[in-house]
Parts: sequence; structure tokens; C-alpha cells
Amino acid sequence: MTRFDDIRLLRIQYLRGPNLWTYRPVLEVWLDLGELEDFPSNLIDGFTARLTGLLPALIEHHCGVGERGGFIQRLTEGTWAGHVLEHVVIELLNLAGMPTGFGQTRSTSKHGVYRMVFRARDEQVARAALAEGHRLLMAAINDDPFDAAAVQRAVDVVREKVEDCYLGPSTACIVGAATDRGIPHMRLNSGNLVQLGYGASQQRIWTAETDYTSAIGESIASDKELTKSLLAACGVPVPEGQVVADAEAAWEAAEEIGLPVAVKPSDANHGRGVSLELTTREEVEAAFAVAEPEGSDVMVERFVRGHEHRLLVVGDRVIAAARGEIISVTGDGRSTVAELIDSQLNSDPRRGVHEEFPLDHIDIATDAKLQLELKRQGLSGSAVPTSGRVVTIQRNGNMAADCTDQVHPEVAHAAVLAARVVGLDIAGIDLVAEDIGRPLAAQGGAIVEVNAGPGLLMHLKPAVGSPRPVGRAICDHLFPDTDANGLPGRIPVVGVAGSRDTAVLARLVAWLIGLGGRLTGLACGDGLFIERRRVDIRDCANWDAGRRLLMNRAVQAVVIENGAQTILRDGLAYDRCEVGIVTDLEGASGLAEFDITESDQLVRVLRTQVDVVLPGGAAVLNAADPRVAGLAPLCDGDVILYAVDPQVEALTKHQAAGGRAVLVRQDRVVLAKGSSESFLPGLGRLTVWRTTHAGVDLSSLLAAVAAGWALGIPLNLIGAGVEAFEADFQAALDSLQLSQTLAPEHQLV
Ligand SMILES: Nc1ncnc2c1ncn2[C@@H]1O[C@H](COP(=O)(O)OP(=O)(O)O)[C@@H](O)[C@H]1O
Ligand SMILES: [Mg+2]
Repeated sequence: MTRFDDIRLLRIQYLRGPNLWTYRPVLEVWLDLGELEDFPSNLIDGFTARLTGLLPALIEHHCGVGERGGFIQRLTEGTWAGHVLEHVVIELLNLAGMPTGFGQTRSTSKHGVYRMVFRARDEQVARAALAEGHRLLMAAINDDPFDAAAVQRAVDVVREKVEDCYLGPSTACIVGAATDRGIPHMRLNSGNLVQLGYGASQQRIWTAETDYTSAIGESIASDKELTKSLLAACGVPVPEGQVVADAEAAWEAAEEIGLPVAVKPSDANHGRGVSLELTTREEVEAAFAVAEPEGSDVMVERFVRGHEHRLLVVGDRVIAAARGEIISVTGDGRSTVAELIDSQLNSDPRRGVHEEFPLDHIDIATDAKLQLELKRQGLSGSAVPTSGRVVTIQRNGNMAADCTDQVHPEVAHAAVLAARVVGLDIAGIDLVAEDIGRPLAAQGGAIVEVNAGPGLLMHLKPAVGSPRPVGRAICDHLFPDTDANGLPGRIPVVGVAGSRDTAVLARLVAWLIGLGGRLTGLACGDGLFIERRRVDIRDCANWDAGRRLLMNRAVQAVVIENGAQTILRDGLAYDRCEVGIVTDLEGASGLAEFDITESDQLVRVLRTQVDVVLPGGAAVLNAADPRVAGLAPLCDGDVILYAVDPQVEALTKHQAAGGRAVLVRQDRVVLAKGSSESFLPGLGRLTVWRTTHAGVDLSSLLAAVAAGWALGIPLNLIGAGVEAFEADFQAALDSLQLSQTLAPEHQLV
């Protein structure tokens, strides 16, 4: 049998925003099949069988065929290795728990060279999946040893990347809810700090903490004694108790409070060092010793009878509630406690060491609390309980069953009040009560702790009962209102794509928006600007600069210039925009590395700018080039065409169909809506204007006016604004004396 050389991965680029393939981030791989170009799947002996043997779920890939088994059909009929690699990678991602629906493979103008892309939420995860998929595929092609265990190892590599690099489950669920509501997100670190929305409309989350979470509130919550005193002052039931300095004092306090008692650290979490239902001096003193190393102080408090509950408060509502269960094992007269724990508890598939598991793995050796719990029952890990004896293993921390619908309104009220009194917008309330369906006071129930940044997993994957939409609740809490377009979290974003005078055009648009009263950011070839202050003098028509603006909390509107290069190399910096301007299809000459040599090919690239226009927004298109005007149908929003020559066909047709246009008549700028036309107020004859604005192309002026119109800037302000615009860039800068305000490395020379 022929042995094939490895498929060569020529170039891998992560397109981080909307791109010519899709709206979402993808990994784009340029690959050279080499000899495999002459050997589609049907010509490699036994290949299809080997591959489907390794990845049986490929049967679920519909591929272009559109039904189950579609991809297998393609394999049997014969398809090329690049396309197969795409499906292998997607399948590995599915198996690793990061399902991805999108993939495409296209040939290029070079023999044997393909571009393969697949949807990638995270670059590192995608690269790992690619590397593993590549290995697996070559093994299947060459009939090299590769078995189910090797597939599992490949999946594990990808899964580990997901765990290391991707968002944790709680954060992912909030982000998912935001996406469902059309709210964009940006990760701000490699962990769980995420920005929802853009610029001044953003809200940040850090796992289950938000911009509204008071830092003081968080500190209060981490001090259980202080928390209890604040809650008690408002009439929220809490167990009475005191802080003690040593074991002897603990016992004295216990006698005073009345037995049984609980002993716990004042500021630990995850149940560390908590001992419950203590009745003797020995137990109390031993519990003190367990609690002491876990926190700053030790507290003794009344033991509250009943079940442990966790209530999730978001804003002014209880969104979810879970009831804890006491975990125990039952002796069989032969096995040790440690063995019983392994066979009866750790074997549960919901238990595991990773964060994604709803329940923890139990290990006696490292669990001092469990050791104490066993000791109090006269046992240890190596003891063999008699057959039928029930041994308590964990009293708390096992929030297994959802009980949201049972929560009594009075209990919910107390929980919401507790969160508010402490100062948390999102809180996990630990509450002990016999029956969550009855008011607390009557049954002696109490709130024992208020937690900041509560875990959400127990409400997302309860062992019993239905999941609760906590991500949605948090998202709605952060974005209660929608803006004029019905779009929460957004600021006006204007994208400018093309190559002819686009930097000046971007500057002019930003200038007009600024006049309209918004603090405006601008990223273009002339640099990065916040209002009129230039904060970076480098060419900023790129993804990073766009991102920098969208991250900025001060910014109320942005204008971002995108050349074809940016779209091809990085994708757009924003998911959607209010106005997308396309000026021209020039600049193909510099794009040979992207397999682009003719301007016609740029249609597919620059259309991205039109694809992302929001339904309430508008595309502003240059009618002088029919190919640019031809992008109009791709726009979800309105379309405004512009042209210096009012006779160009695209423009007259658009006008005849009632569309909006900006054009020139009688040496003046005209705004047209269908057949009704009016001069732009505030701007005189263009021949005069051009003498003072030599640096601005007439068609750029029309494009900027159209963008201003689309954004709802008052027309007379637009007219006066273009008149006042300082066309000469250097003069504009000089007049601002910016150099003093710049960081040294960015100073103008
Ligand atoms: N006074 C008490 N009475 C009864 N149970 C308690 C008491 N204090 C704590 N618990 C139980 O122990 C669990 C852990 O205690 P908690 O104070 O919440 O510590 P942590 O910060 O470690 O979660 C609680 O959820 C509750 O089930
Ligand atoms: Mg707790």
C-alpha cells in the first residue's frame, strides 16, 4: 500500500471575529495535501472503515448531503483529505464537550492546497483539536496503529485544553444567556473575567460577581460573624453564637448557647473545618482543633436542626434553590469505610475531581472533617462497619435536589433581604430549615451564611429536579432595559471597509458622531483616538485597535476602519455594527498570500462588513461601483447608497424603489428618500467647500453624510460639521497640541 506523507499545515490563523466564512470565530488552516490530492477517500484502501471505526459518531455528520450518514456517503463516494480533516477535528471537539457545528473546506488556486475552517470558541482548544485530528487522520490514512484508547487520549488532550483555557461552567452559562439575547462578549483575561456588551454599555462579570457586586459587601460576606450581626439587626433569623479564642472557651460558649452546637471557622468556605451537632466537651474541643487552622477565628453557634439549603439570589429575586442531602454509606460486614466510600459514592459518575462535576470526589486521607465525623461515630477509614449500619460521611455541601418551587415567600423574602443587607447583587444564601416551604421563625430555621460569587453548577445540573435558568436571570439582571433598537449592551459601532481614503472618511464620521454629543473612539490608519486625543500613532486599522476601543468603558460610540487584510487575517473586531460602510474594491494587489489577485474576489471579503449590520442599522454603499452596490441585499438593515454622479444605475434604481441615497446636484449635497430630495442643510456649494477641504474626496464626504444620516445625527449638525471639519490631518493635530498628553513611546516626532 502507498504510504502518504503528512498533510502539511502551511498556515494557521485564528479569525477572532466575523470573517468571510461566518459570523463567529473560526480557526482557518491552509493545508497542502501533497500526494493525497490524487487520492480521495475512496481510493485509499479500507480508509473509510478505519476512520469510522475510530470515530463512529461521524455517522451523525450530515455534511452537505443534509441527512444522517451524509458525511459517510461522501467518504464512500470519494472526498479529499482536507475535508475529512475538518470532520475529524469537529468530531474531536464534540467528544471533548465543546460541540461545534460549523466547518468548511475549499480548494485554492494552487494544486493540492486547501483552506479548511471550523468554528472555534477558543484558539488554544481549536489548535489542540487540529493537532490531534491531524495525527488521527494520518494514522487512519496510512493504517498505522491507532485504537480506541488512542482516540480517548486525543479527546483527553482537547478536553484538558477546554478546562485550562475556556470559561468555567458558571461563566459559560451566563455568557451563553447573553449570546441568546444578542449581547456580545469579550474575555478580558485567560480566566473568567468577561465583558458583556461594548464600551460604555458594557457590564463585567467575573464568575458570579458583577459590576454591581459591592466590594465591601464581599468582604462582609467573607466574615460570618459580621454578616450574622448585620442580618440579626434587620430581623433575619441567624443562629446565635460567639467567636472563641481557644478550645476551653469553645466549650464554655457551647454550654452558654445550649447544646448541640456547631463549630466552624469564621471565614473559610466549601464546608472546610465545619463540625455539626456537637454535644460533648470532647467533640467541641476536637472541633475547635479542626476549625482553627482553616480560618482567622473560630465560631461556636447554636446547631440549627433541619436540612441544608442553598438559595441563589439575583437582584431582588430568589432564582433557584437546592436542598442538600446527608451522604452516607451502608456497611456490608466485610468492606472498610474507605472501600464503601469508593464503591457506593465515588463510583457515582457525577463525582469527580474536576470543576465540571456537580459532586466532589471523597478522599478520607485529605479530609480532616470526614475523619472527625467518622471518629464521632467510633469509626475510621479502615474500620469495617457491621452489615446494615448507616455511616454518615458528609452532612453538608451536597446540594443535590432542586427545590426552587417549594420556597415559601417569607423565606425568599428573608434571603433577598440578607443579600441586600450584606451588599451583594448576586448571593448564595446557606439556610438550614426542616421545611423550606414554611416561614423560618416558626420552625427555628436560620440563615447560616451569605456567599459572594456563588457557584451556579448545582442549579444548572441538579441531581434531582430540573435545571434553573440562572444564566438568563443574571444576564437580565445586568441588562434590564433595551436600547432604542431593542439591543442591550450596544453602543453605535460604525465599520468602514475599503481602501480608498478610508482613514479620512473614518475620521470625518467620528467627528460627526462626536459633534452629536457622544464620546467617540476611532481606530483608523491615522491612529487610535479617544475623542480628539490620539492615544496611539501607529496604523490602527486592525482588530486589536478595534478591540481596545470596545473595551473602553468611557466610549459611547466607535468608528473602526477595516481593510481587506484585517478581515482576512483577524476578522472584524465587533460581532455586529450599526453602520457598515463599503467604499471600493481596490487593493487586491497586496493580497496574494490570501490567494486574492483580482478585485472581484474582494466582494466576498468586504461583504462581511455588510453581513454584520444590525437589523436596525444601515449599510452605506458606494453606488459608483455596481459590485459594491450589489452587496445591498446582504444587509439585515436599511441601505443608503451614495454617488457623486446621480445618474449611476444602481443609485437611480435604488431611489426608484424608494430607497435612501446621498448624491450631488447643483453643486450641493442632496439627501434623497425615494423621489423626494432635499439639500443637506448647513452646507453650501461644494466647489467652495472643496477649496478648504482638499484632502477629502467628494465621495468620502457623501459616505460620511450618509453614515451620519443613518445614525440619526441632526441634519443641520451634519452640514455644519462637514463644513467645520479640519481636513488637513497634521493641522488638526497641531491645533490640539497633543504631544504632551501622549505616552513617550507614542509621541509624535
Ligand atoms: N449553626 C449551624 N447549624 C446547623 N447547620 C450548620 C450551622 N452552621 C453551618 N451549618 C451547616 O454547615 C454548612 C457549612 O457551613 P457554612 O457556615 O456555610 O460554611 P462554609 O462557608 O464552609 O460553607 C452549612 O451549609 C450548613 O449546612
Ligand atoms: Mg456555606
